[in-house]
Amino acid sequence: MQNNNKSERVRSDEKIALLNDQVAGNGLISRRHLLGLSLAGAGGLVTSSVLAADAGLLTRPAWSMTPGRDPSEYGNPSSHAAQIKRLAPAPNAISPGTGASRTPLHLLQGTITPNSLHFERHHSGVPDIDPAQHRLVLHGMVRQPLEFSYEDLLAYPMVSRVHFLECSGNSGGNSSGASASDGSAGGIHGLLSCAEWTGVRLSTLLDEAGVAAGASWITATGADAASLGRSVPLDKALRDVIIALYQNGEPIRPEQGYPMRMFVPGWEGNVSVKWLTQIKVTDGPANFRDETSRYTELLPDGKSLQFTYPMGVKSVITSPSGQMTLTRHGLHEVTGLAWSGSGSIRRVEISADGGRTWADALIDADQRELALTRFRLPWLWEGAEAVLQSRATDSAGNVQPSRAAWVAQYSPANRYHFNGIQSWAVSAQGEVKNVYA
Ligand code: MTE
Repeated sequence: MQNNNKSERVRSDEKIALLNDQVAGNGLISRRHLLGLSLAGAGGLVTSSVLAADAGLLTRPAWSMTPGRDPSEYGNPSSHAAQIKRLAPAPNAISPGTGASRTPLHLLQGTITPNSLHFERHHSGVPDIDPAQHRLVLHGMVRQPLEFSYEDLLAYPMVSRVHFLECSGNSGGNSSGASASDGSAGGIHGLLSCAEWTGVRLSTLLDEAGVAAGASWITATGADAASLGRSVPLDKALRDVIIALYQNGEPIRPEQGYPMRMFVPGWEGNVSVKWLTQIKVTDGPANFRDETSRYTELLPDGKSLQFTYPMGVKSVITSPSGQMTLTRHGLHEVTGLAWSGSGSIRRVEISADGGRTWADALIDADQRELALTRFRLPWLWEGAEAVLQSRATDSAGNVQPSRAAWVAQYSPANRYHFNGIQSWAVSAQGEVKNVYA
């Protein structure tokens, strides 16, 4: 491989300083270099081209010479960023509307998923709901059954919360098989998104209806053709569940449940019932199809776990990640996402030698509960083979398990709630691949 300008920016004196500041094997450098406190400083990470000596005058490109296009009513990404799309399968001929598209995690930065790239998982397609005709009915073990129109709900006090949403089938491809299948970070882990959800607390509506003595669960049903239904214990419903009406500031998208969805923070995505039309207060779970025949984890003895609600502590390196190629030697930023359904992220460690040695990554200071957290660490890669891994620890003390430890808990057929450590192998040519390590 040829070194280009960019790798030459890591001058040999800086390189010596960086090598002296390795915090784990195979080139992982102290996160102090990201804070700009080191000798080599941020300069070591700069990858821009070196200006030619005679390039004193900047030339003006064509787009700087004439006025651009007019303002528009609804914005779109740059046509030069058109490759950043959801990873969507071909239409399902046998069961129309059923399937999933994935968030391209490896093509995004930060922690908030743009609405157009939020992953989708539909069991019977996206209904086209007229909000003027849609109703939410709240009934069962209540003093006063209630019916809400969309307009009614808009008049209630609202809250805004940033939370991740993860399908419990996410990353399931990594749970089985003798060897790992090829895939990108988004392709393998992209049933995961994070947004600011705004809506009415379910507790506000339950208060108004008056929960009867003896009630301990609620059941929720969607208005789609699948009539997806899920049961949620009443204490969770009262704690932090919202009837979400907005997603990142605009009305939630049809794919996410327009005009309203039940949003259950930190729990498996399936319980966040979209196109919500009914909430019933009960004294037990309904045992809907989607909590008995599916969304249960098969154990080695043939029994299943039912109602595994919180998503496990998890992380994934999004860059460098599967199907990428490192095109230069020198400093790279290893970055990715970490999250947990049991609180916030306290620590993310990174390994470049398949788990033999670990270094602490820099994580966002303003970590939120039940939300995605971004982590970063500088890595000096000079062409040696490497296996990159990340391991997250949450505020409850849960540590992300190795893939082998996760697999040992279940039947080989179980694909739900996979949170084992992801390994990306980097070849001497810089190709990055999904591997089981
Ligand atoms: N709610 C209804 N009514 N119908 C559905 O098909 N899919 C569930 C859940 N809520 C579903 C639903 C599943 S399996 C998941 S993972 C999430 O919605 C996906 O939410 P999203 O499509 O907004 O990402």
